[in-house]
Amino acid sequence: MHEEVQHPCVQHKLAIIRDSETGHKRFRELATEITQFLCYEALKNVRTREVSVMTPVAEANCRKIDTDIVVVPILRAGVGMLDGILDLLPTARVGFVGLYRDEETATPISYYDRFPPQTNGGTCIIIDPMLATGGSTNAAVDLLKRHGATDIVVICIVTCPEGLAAVEAAHPDVVVYTASVDSHLNERKYIVPGLGDAGDRLFGTSS
Ligand code: PRP
Ligand code: URA
Repeated sequence: MHEEVQHPCVQHKLAIIRDSETGHKRFRELATEITQFLCYEALKNVRTREVSVMTPVAEANCRKIDTDIVVVPILRAGVGMLDGILDLLPTARVGFVGLYRDEETATPISYYDRFPPQTNGGTCIIIDPMLATGGSTNAAVDLLKRHGATDIVVICIVTCPEGLAAVEAAHPDVVVYTASVDSHLNERKYIVPGLGDAGDRLFGTSS
């Protein structure tokens, strides 16, 4: 299952982040800003509990978030979305999954993982700007499930039908929130039109 966030504020920022003229400083800022909007949407069903608060006028019945939230960036490009989420959820814990795509086969190679214990029982939010073939996201979900996670959502900036189908087939319980479902993957398994290599554009490197 997936949800494409069509809000004009998101789509406006997406237009700028896609632009090949946008440099790495602005690209990073936009990744943070778009992530905040997507995270806001992704958390709309998070568990809350009732609390009573005294305003200066009277008692108010309110709600507070009532679940441990573990944010899991997929290294490296997912790190570019972390600040945005932590601004919104300052008490979230952070786990890491290190994966890179083999240039020839586009299959994910795992090189690191580290999770807080709250992965088991909390809500886990995987962040990665690009969900292309879905191989990296599926590998991250597999790992999290092996560590006991049962409530997992994915936030990506751009994806495509092929990647969504792969995640849906392997993990139908996982919901993907994105700013755009693009057209297709090209022969190098890059998203078209996409935004290019997200890691390189975020960190000012080049492949
Ligand atoms: C990119 C991206 C995803 C992955 C998406 O990472 O950030 O992790 O590719 O592709 P997939 O859906 O086909 O698996 P990359 O392998 O370029 O590594 P990097 O983040 O270190 O640049
Ligand atoms: N990784 C990227 O950074 N971009 C793509 O389009 C696909 C994978």
